Amino acid sequence: MLGFRQRMLLVHLVAVVVIVSCAAAAGWWLLSQSVRGQLDAALLALAETESGLLAEGDIDAVRIHEPKAGSAPPSLVRLDRLIQIIDEQGAVLARSNNLGVAQLPVSPAMLAQLANGQTVFQTFPHASEEPLRIVSVPVVVQGKRFTVQVAGSLDDVNRILQSAALLFGGLAVALLLGLSLAGTALTRTLFRTVDRVTAQARRIGDDNLSERLAHPGSDDELGHLVDTLNSMLERLERAFELQRNFTANASHEIRSPLSRLRTEIELALRRPRDAAAYVATLHSCLDEVERLTSMVDELLLLARLDAGQEAIAVEIIPLDQLARDCIAKLQAAAGERGIAIELDTPAPVLGRIGYCAASLVLTNLIDNAIKFSPASSTIRVAVREYAGLATISVTDSGPGIAAADLPNLFDRFYRGSASQAGEISGAGLGLAISRTVMNSYGARIDAANRTDAQGAVFTLSFSAKD
Ligand SMILES: Nc1ncnc2c1ncn2[C@@H]1O[C@H](COP(=O)(O)OP(=O)(O)O)[C@@H](O)[C@H]1O
Ligand SMILES: [Mg+2]
Repeated sequence: MLGFRQRMLLVHLVAVVVIVSCAAAAGWWLLSQSVRGQLDAALLALAETESGLLAEGDIDAVRIHEPKAGSAPPSLVRLDRLIQIIDEQGAVLARSNNLGVAQLPVSPAMLAQLANGQTVFQTFPHASEEPLRIVSVPVVVQGKRFTVQVAGSLDDVNRILQSAALLFGGLAVALLLGLSLAGTALTRTLFRTVDRVTAQARRIGDDNLSERLAHPGSDDELGHLVDTLNSMLERLERAFELQRNFTANASHEIRSPLSRLRTEIELALRRPRDAAAYVATLHSCLDEVERLTSMVDELLLLARLDAGQEAIAVEIIPLDQLARDCIAKLQAAAGERGIAIELDTPAPVLGRIGYCAASLVLTNLIDNAIKFSPASSTIRVAVREYAGLATISVTDSGPGIAAADLPNLFDRFYRGSASQAGEISGAGLGLAISRTVMNSYGARIDAANRTDAQGAVFTLSFSAKD
């Protein structure tokens, strides 16, 4: 089986042979037509001159109008031309001096064509010592039919054509050689670049993912391939980076509460304490354990989502009901800080999404809104439908989102300036999970700042059932 390189070379060679041979053959054919046409035109011109003279002359003494030797100015028209005049039966009435005792061939088929008034061109390769081209022109003079035949040697024409064949053949061979060599050199250069790119690509592994393939410097298929591979490496590097960060962050986030737990237990055990102190320590430990548990649950959920193990069942759900359920779950937490949650649903909207998934995401958003809102403010949950798109937005009056946080807000373990400023607890996984969940349903989650006042707006969008 031929490799790609050999196949390319073979195709190139076949194409070159076919093109060059066709071009050479066509050139030779055109030249032969032109040279033969010129001879025919010269023979016909002389035959017509002789016919004209015959018509003007005496038909009882038919003769060839050759000037006597030494009686006329120099002329090349009759040079090497054999002329003969025959009657309608083919009997020779006159012939040029250079024909001697010979006569030009006459065939019954030719006589028949002449009788029809046709001019006849014939080639006789072996008529005399040289191949002949003969034109026979019928003339009617005073009711009698004659034929003027003019013959010329094909020797010169054949020699020109032979030389042309040699020339074209030589040119074709030279072209074939040149193009084949050029093609081979070009293919070799091309494949050398491909080989180089392949070798570079082979060297890139997970430990040197930041390396890029050297661009060949050309804006062609190979250049595009290198660009595409480089952008794929870019994405892979980013994915690896995220993965590495994720593991590092996850370890750190789990380690911190564990070491806090350890310190608290160690402190409690250092000396005997009263029951109230133990209860307080146990409560504080329970808080840490609950935080740890919820974070591990979130990490497990993310892992399952990443592995595609979470069932994605699309249902048709009434969104006002969904919002009401989520608000109810968080009403107590909101109440503790005097925050009111307003539901804004002008009309019932049915959405196509999984109930549990949408509920998890919306709960996360309302939970964030409660965390980041000032006490005694109002959070608005609005459900809308527009052009087949259902949206649920959560608007708060918190600090809003800093411009620097916007690009990373949905990254795992990312905690923005709002959480740092207010020392608000959290692991930075809620929005990452929300986005992964929404993406798995082909839905969107977007973050923005309010335009009418301070605060953030998070919007979920997915298709609505009409
Ligand atoms: N409603 C909001 N207002 C302002 N900032 C927000 C809001 N919701 C989320 N953020 C920012 O996005 C970050 C990530 O949110 P999230 O993934 O839910 O993690 P966490 O709530 O654990 O901090 C938060 O730390 C905060 O900086
Ligand atoms: Mg959160």
